[in-house]
Amino acid sequence: MPDAQHTRTAVCADPPHEVALQQRAAVLAASLNTRKTRLGDPGCDLLLAVTRERLELRVLQGEADLIGGHAVFADLAAIDVDSPAGRRLDMPLLKAVGIKKGDAHRPSVIDCTAGLGEDAWLLAAHGCAVTAIERQPVIAALLQDAIERAAGAAPSIAQRVTLHHADASDWLAQAKNTSRPDTIVLDPMFPLGRKAKERKPMRVLRLLAGDDGDAPALLDATLSTGVHRVCVKRPLRAPVIWHATRAKPDLVFKGKAVRFDVYFNH
Ligand SMILES: C[S@@+](CC[C@H](N)C(=O)[O-])C[C@H]1O[C@@H](n2cnc3c(N)ncnc32)[C@H](O)[C@@H]1O
Repeated sequence: MPDAQHTRTAVCADPPHEVALQQRAAVLAASLNTRKTRLGDPGCDLLLAVTRERLELRVLQGEADLIGGHAVFADLAAIDVDSPAGRRLDMPLLKAVGIKKGDAHRPSVIDCTAGLGEDAWLLAAHGCAVTAIERQPVIAALLQDAIERAAGAAPSIAQRVTLHHADASDWLAQAKNTSRPDTIVLDPMFPLGRKAKERKPMRVLRLLAGDDGDAPALLDATLSTGVHRVCVKRPLRAPVIWHATRAKPDLVFKGKAVRFDVYFNH
């Protein structure tokens, strides 16, 4: 996994004259073990900007069509969880974790690849208690900021999400005697096919997180916990994640562009 140092990520305040933002930027830079800098610093590739509205990531160097593009930030409030479409229980993710129409039970979930939190938020909005784990420190910071912002309008959803900055395999090994979720969800970076076109935010995340080439080991670690159900998000036509003893999943839920491979521990 590339790290914040590798991609030359630095933290700044914008606008620079605001003391409170400068203070927050200094605390964040220290917690990420990276540099605090000024706006326009040519010595970094990615700039994590502390603004009045939010924490956002800006691309300063790298692939030409990403530079100066829209800033990347997590926007949980933009996820539709209120309209009739947003409340439907037949979404593939919800079915994959075991939510059923007419059944009030909501599984507890560990999301081992939290990213910018869309899946975790959707699950929490539908009543699941979600432990979200993200190992890339900058992505974890963007998600923490988004949860805090979204908590204002949706406190009950935010309360159901607990974020940990950690590698999920390590976290699961440490929590094996204390945490017994109903379901584990995995959504490692999708493999990049020849024709694959990724949305810009995901391309920026890939600069930080890499390709998650250790996804088979993570699947193995989740199945070894003995959890009843493990759900893996994949592009619709991608091969299954390789596993030594599970040639194929027990169930598959298909959406328009993605599918969820579900493995049971019997
Ligand atoms: C495709 S993104 C996940 C997107 C997320 N499902 C969402 O809804 O926003 C994959 C994320 O998983 C994280 N990740 C991959 N392997 C991990 C591991 N072993 N532990 C923790 N995080 C991991 C990566 O750093 C990356 O941020």
